[in-house]
This record gives sequence, C-alpha cells and structure tokens, in this order.
Amino acid sequence: MHLSRDTRLDAGTTRGNGSRLARAPASLLITLLMLSLLTPTNPLWVEAACADLPTLLSDHAHCELKAAQSALSLLARYAGEFPCLVAPLGALAKEETEHFTMVHAQLTARGLGMGLPASDGYVTRLAAAARADHHADRSPLMDKILVAALIEARSCERFQLLSEHLPDAELRKFYADLMTSEARHFTLFSSLSAECFGRAETRARLATLATREAEIVEHPPFGPQVHG
Ligand SMILES: [Fe+2]
Ligand SMILES: [Fe+2]
Repeated sequence: MHLSRDTRLDAGTTRGNGSRLARAPASLLITLLMLSLLTPTNPLWVEAACADLPTLLSDHAHCELKAAQSALSLLARYAGEFPCLVAPLGALAKEETEHFTMVHAQLTARGLGMGLPASDGYVTRLAAAARADHHADRSPLMDKILVAALIEARSCERFQLLSEHLPDAELRKFYADLMTSEARHFTLFSSLSAECFGRAETRARLATLATREAEIVEHPPFGPQVHG
C-alpha cells in the first residue's frame, strides 16, 4: 500500500495510543498506523461478516453508492468556494460508482440481490461526534473531509481483514484490490484538507477525530455490515 508523505506525517501524530494498537495482529498494525486509526476492528466483526455474505455484499454495494453520493454532495455545496475540489471529487464519485457496479456483479454472480439501503450507525455517530465539538472558527468542510478520510481508512482496514479471512478465494482477491483504493481515498481526503486548511490544522483535527472514531468502532454490536 502506498501512502503519500503528507499522510505518513499525519499518521505519526496518533502513535501515542499504543495500548489499543498492541491488540492488533502484526499484519494489521502497519495498516492502522498509516491510516491514523487508533484501534483494530473487533474480531467478532470478522466472524459476523464472513458468516453473512449476502448482507455484507449488499451493504457494501450501498456503501459504494453512498461514497459516490457524498462526493457529489460535497461538490454541490462547496465547489463554488473551493474549486480545487472539483477534479478530485468528480473523479472519486466516478470511481466509487464503478466500485458499486463491481460489488453488484459479485452479488449477481452468487445469485444474490441487493437489499434496501439501511442507515449506517457508524457514519452517523462519527459525523455527530465531529459536530459535537465544532468550533465556529473551523470550516464545516474540514470536518466533513476528515470524517470521510476516516471512513475510507476504516473501510480499508476491514477490507484487509476480509482479504485475509473470507472463505471465498475470489472475494479475498476482490477485497485485497479494493483495499488499496480505500487507502488511496484516505490519502486523497487527508491531502485535500491539508491543501484547503493547512497541514498543522489537519494533523491536529485528524488526531482528535481518530480518537472519537476509535471509541465508536469499539462499541458493539458487531454486525455483518461493512461498518457494522
Ligand atoms: Fe469504493
Ligand atoms: Fe472509497
């Protein structure tokens, strides 16, 4: 996995939380550190996800759609004020839409269908945590970008777990490939925040939001959804 120099510096700010990270298997530790994540996913999630492929794939398909929609929503609200977002987020929306079609093909190949979209409690709680300590002198866009960065980061970690533990060899390869995309998207959002709001501000806020993210992700239940 390749991450930019900016992102490696960001990740370095979170290394003080050694006790949680010590629980991570060695293969996951580097991923967590590079992505600024402070705690590994509970192994109960891996069990739940591997045991319910229809729910996992259907939820994943919706996650890709939501990622594309979220990128477009950011453009709708902020493209005028921050034109530097247009090219990268336009390309991201296109890529996430392609991911949706790829996940949908995996469902179809297994004779599975897509369920209705469900609310994502993890994303809702993370966005609420960012709003809870929002300061008037900080642009709401910065928090939206960094929340998106952390969602990409956690998805990357979970796709690595799926690439290592799913019984289906084709899906293990599928998730290993998607994992690199999620890591790249984390880098994209982190870099956009640094470009728009400065590296020091980005580093500090990312560290705070990563602490909130760790508290949220450690909270059960651990269901088969991507962010379950
Ligand atoms: Fe994606
Ligand atoms: Fe993504």
